[in-house]
Amino acid sequence: MASTEGPYEEEKLLLSTLPKDTGWQSQHLYLFQGFWCPSFHLQGVNSFQKHFQAKDNDVIVAAFPKSGTTWLKALTFSILNRQRFSPSHNHPLLTSISHELVPFLEFIFHPHNLQYKRPYPLKDMTEPRLFATHIPFPSLSNSIKDSNCKIVYICRNPFDTFVSAWVFFNKIKPHSLHDLTIEESLEKYCKGICGYGPHWDHMLGYWKQSRATPNKVLFLKYEELKEDVNFYVKRVAEFLDCPFTEEEESNGVIESIIKLCSFDKMKNLEVNKSGTIDRNIEKKYFFRKGEIGDWVNYFSPAMIDKLSKTIEEKLRGSGLSFKTCS
Ligand code: A3P
Repeated sequence: MASTEGPYEEEKLLLSTLPKDTGWQSQHLYLFQGFWCPSFHLQGVNSFQKHFQAKDNDVIVAAFPKSGTTWLKALTFSILNRQRFSPSHNHPLLTSISHELVPFLEFIFHPHNLQYKRPYPLKDMTEPRLFATHIPFPSLSNSIKDSNCKIVYICRNPFDTFVSAWVFFNKIKPHSLHDLTIEESLEKYCKGICGYGPHWDHMLGYWKQSRATPNKVLFLKYEELKEDVNFYVKRVAEFLDCPFTEEEESNGVIESIIKLCSFDKMKNLEVNKSGTIDRNIEKKYFFRKGEIGDWVNYFSPAMIDKLSKTIEEKLRGSGLSFKTCS
């Protein structure tokens, strides 16, 4: 795995003042603006906050890591660009993983980002520009909050999100990272210590904003998207002010988008089966099982009790709940 280059002097100073934890996902996590930021993302987050200028027609896919970001990026890209690219013919998703088509804002602005060109050619992007982020709502740049740009957020039940993260980060972590058991990792996760965590704060930030400004933030759940993807693809298109026409519906455009972005299709594409992105992360790791409820294969009764109680406490009174966690 490639090492990340050291931070600049300004960031070094910032890091020295922040609470720090040895991550179970990355070398270090820093408590920055109330969330645990992976050390190798902090420069990008900081620089994004200072420099990103949102446009009114920008669209941002937001998600807590391992909640379905790769899928929602693919769906949103296909919905927004369906006039340029037919979902059933020579589509960019057949030759690029969705992470290459929809860049993370915190990566674009990272001075040593390995995935995208530096500086990222923002001014050459076709409009509406489509970005993604793992950054919690309160830490988004003011220009995102103050402009009319739209945010589509996806969350996932914490049991499956934790397991997905546990498997993923065990595959990609540097060899030098201390091995934690799944129980020890869950302890940290329940204390909120994980990249972009606490998970509940992340979900609640976007949840509250979606209720306060429903035209600005659309709040989706991975489980609901899986259960009725047709309904939510139409919902996303309406939210983004590009509803499907009757003609598109009768021509099967919605079904073609769903099929193109489906787990089986994406997982089996050559482009997603081989090669790496970002810090030498194997693309195939983004497509594991894509199921609801795989957590039962990992959780002991004590772990179920621990996470159930934590979720109950953290989400109580918010109106946000998950079927699969009871
Ligand atoms: P599992 O590890 O449970 O299989 P993210 O994209 O935020 O990193 O989330 C990764 C999770 O989304 C993984 O879950 C992955 O398998 C699943 N996933 C990836 N592509 C998907 C798709 N097209 N449809 C449904 N789930 C998908």
